[in-house]
Amino acid sequence: MSARSVDLYNITPMTINDLDEVYELELASYSFPWTKEILRDCILYNYNSFSVFFNNELIGYIISKITYPETHILNLTVNTAFRRKGIGQSLINLVINDAKLRKSEDIILEVRASNNEAQALYHKLKFKSIGIRRGYYESENGREDAYVLKLSL
Ligand SMILES: CC(C)(COP(=O)(O)OP(=O)(O)OC[C@H]1O[C@@H](n2cnc3c(N)ncnc32)[C@H](O)[C@@H]1OP(=O)(O)O)[C@@H](O)C(=O)NCCC(=O)NCCS
Repeated sequence: MSARSVDLYNITPMTINDLDEVYELELASYSFPWTKEILRDCILYNYNSFSVFFNNELIGYIISKITYPETHILNLTVNTAFRRKGIGQSLINLVINDAKLRKSEDIILEVRASNNEAQALYHKLKFKSIGIRRGYYESENGREDAYVLKLSL
């Protein structure tokens, strides 16, 4: 039997060793990225976060805070070249499962009003819109609204 290379996806809890790559992907993905300090604190304060690697390269992550009774998803990012492969959905499903184990009752998140891709993903997973935070985000043209979405577990 001949040996052949296999493309490997690996999802692991985020560690401080991932920080540089997480920050690099954050910078590449957002006009208003989180700072490295914020990302570091999320890891150091044990936020519930996962990194996705493809052949040892970090290509996505999710950062959440699982608490009772409410869980918050704070950041979800997938490298452009790896989108529409189910990675975002898999990361959210990991958080959903952990949140259920810890008896969390709801998952809450904010999404930019202009972010149709992320909204499509959240609606596919049955998140419902429960409100608007006016001017919540910085944007190129001043401020932008956030939709608040909730998934009841
Ligand atoms: C939003 C994001 C995380 C989605 O990640 P992803 O891995 O591409 O998402 P998935 O492949 O798991 O998509 C699952 C479903 O979501 C919907 N969806 C995702 N991206 C979509 C798009 N660009 N257009 C339409 N629907 C989309 C689809 O229903 C999709 O299922 P399908 O591919 O079978 O049709 C990714 O686009 C991203 O990193 N965007 C930039 C950062 C960002 O906006 N993060 C969210 C902040 S709130």
